[in-house]
Amino acid sequence: MGKKGNSSGRWLDRQRRDPYVRRAHDEGTVSRAHYKLEQLDRKYRLVFPNQLVLELGAAPGGWTQYLSDRIANGLIIAVDPLPVAGGAKVEIITGEYGEDSVDERIGELLGDRRLNLVLSDMAPNLSGIRVADQAASIHLADLCLDAAARWLRPTGSMVVKVFHGEGLGGWLAEAKGQFRQVRLVKPEASRKESREAYVVATGWSGGNQGHSAPNPV
Ligand SMILES: C[S@@+](CC[C@H](N)C(=O)[O-])C[C@H]1O[C@@H](n2cnc3c(N)ncnc32)[C@H](O)[C@@H]1O
Repeated sequence: MGKKGNSSGRWLDRQRRDPYVRRAHDEGTVSRAHYKLEQLDRKYRLVFPNQLVLELGAAPGGWTQYLSDRIANGLIIAVDPLPVAGGAKVEIITGEYGEDSVDERIGELLGDRRLNLVLSDMAPNLSGIRVADQAASIHLADLCLDAAARWLRPTGSMVVKVFHGEGLGGWLAEAKGQFRQVRLVKPEASRKESREAYVVATGWSGGNQGHSAPNPV
């Protein structure tokens, strides 16, 4: 069978043609995902040198490397069950966000400080069953709203990888209730054929967004 006749052959072909895979190789970045965060940051100005950042789904460490190169005085808390290439100002937590032990460690690292930025590039292990995979991705996105409510400071920002499909509309409506501005964007480095997109949410307000106080009775 020719190399285009099976899925691993198609994957190899795609990797060879992908300009971001070549760039990651030439520039020595950990992964091509690095460029997605770079493009989002250039456009929406998310990352600053003294920030406290929670990064969910950090392995192998492309985003972590991008953050570590820019955050000189702050802290990056990188969470993943898989190994993450660390860097300056990076605290790695090995585990899944949602586990109690991970929450406890984040609490220890932050003390009474709150985050400027929550980032999630978390993706579920795909089963190939579309409905189940979409439900799993919405569950991960829900965990990010929980993380924002728990750890983000007022006016803080959040970036979350999501997948187009069932449940995304409802999730976006919920996010809009908690942030001043919520945008659904597809950075150029995100593969065209992928259903993935990123939500860039700014101005966390703790659920007071757009709701006027009820009149006193
Ligand atoms: C697309 S990769 C992230 C790539 C990374 N942003 C980079 O730049 O190298 C998705 C990651 O999400 C992680 N993940 C999935 N569920 C998670 C969870 N509940 N908590 C933490 N990480 C999770 C996976 O282990 C996987 O490493």
